[in-house]
Amino acid sequence: MPWESKKLNSGYYIPSIGFGTWTLGNGQGPIDQVEQALENGYNHIDTAQSYRNEGETGVALKESGLSRSDVFVTTKYSGTNSLDIPTSIQNSVNSLGISYVDLYLVHSPRLAVPDIPTCWAQMEKVKEDGLAKSIGISNFGVEDMEILIASAKIKPAVNQILLHPYVYQQQKPILEYAAKNGIVIEAYSALIPITKLPGGPLDKPLNELAAKFGATTEQILLAWTKAKGAVVVTTSSKKTRLQGYLAAGDITLSSEDIAAIDAAGALGEKKAHMKTILKRVVVGAIACTAVFGACNFLGISML
Ligand SMILES: NC(=O)c1ccc[n+]([C@@H]2O[C@H](COP(=O)([O-])OP(=O)(O)OC[C@H]3O[C@@H](n4cnc5c(N)ncnc54)[C@H](OP(=O)(O)O)[C@@H]3O)[C@@H](O)[C@H]2O)c1
Repeated sequence: MPWESKKLNSGYYIPSIGFGTWTLGNGQGPIDQVEQALENGYNHIDTAQSYRNEGETGVALKESGLSRSDVFVTTKYSGTNSLDIPTSIQNSVNSLGISYVDLYLVHSPRLAVPDIPTCWAQMEKVKEDGLAKSIGISNFGVEDMEILIASAKIKPAVNQILLHPYVYQQQKPILEYAAKNGIVIEAYSALIPITKLPGGPLDKPLNELAAKFGATTEQILLAWTKAKGAVVVTTSSKKTRLQGYLAAGDITLSSEDIAAIDAAGALGEKKAHMKTILKRVVVGAIACTAVFGACNFLGISML
């Protein structure tokens, strides 16, 4: 079985690749795309209150004819319309047309109001009420997780974070902290190095490994993400790509392959960091020149 399910600390199992609805929009489009994913073997759907297509996801689940226990459904508390957690989860399950979700996440630590412990207590109540089998977090850093765990009765089952080779070094402490605490990492936007940041240091090893495995570069990125122990949350509008993502579960990268991707990712991360610093220096210099120029023009002495 290429994409094995992973056991969560709640005792439930999560399929290790999921189909996300973030960019699908509304109307018939997302219904068709979720149906296409389900028809092609995906049994894990990742949506959120803020994606505004929980209703469409629910229609697709119903039209698929699959039974409730055949599909792992995640949604997230996104603070949409300033609704609280108890109202939001009830609205979400109603929109999805199901009586519970498999996983309910706090979409971001900035939504944990008035503070993380209070927010998490409400999430624990969601689980106690049977509206979610497992509860978790998304985009939480190490400090956020420490605050949460210090007061939690129930540990988060997952932390869904941005993860690809260009952010791996920066995200590594989160992965390590999660592993120590039995929290599964879910990786989103794993394909950014080819979809948004082509032309960087990763191109070479990705192309070489794609040739070595007779695979596509997106398959290599998914295999890398899997090798890091994360559950992958991805998406595609195309049937062939969806099938390719599933087939990527059969690719086993060697430790040398992984090291080559890590090294190129770290180099890209360093370059991006230098670019940010350079940009700040240039913006600072322009601002200073403008202030000096204005003072000079107005006859104000800066000394
Ligand atoms: N928790 C959070 O804050 C958060 C944030 C972001 C995302 N997510 C979740 O993660 C899911 C996936 O996010 P994502 O869309 O950023 O993921 P992704 O897996 O990085 O990207 C998927 C996109 O890549 C495109 N793609 C794949 N291979 C390609 C190639 N070779 N060339 C060009 N494009 C290619 C696909 O387009 P085609 O349709 O053309 O195949 C698809 O739109 C979301 O739907 C959501 O569920 C969560």
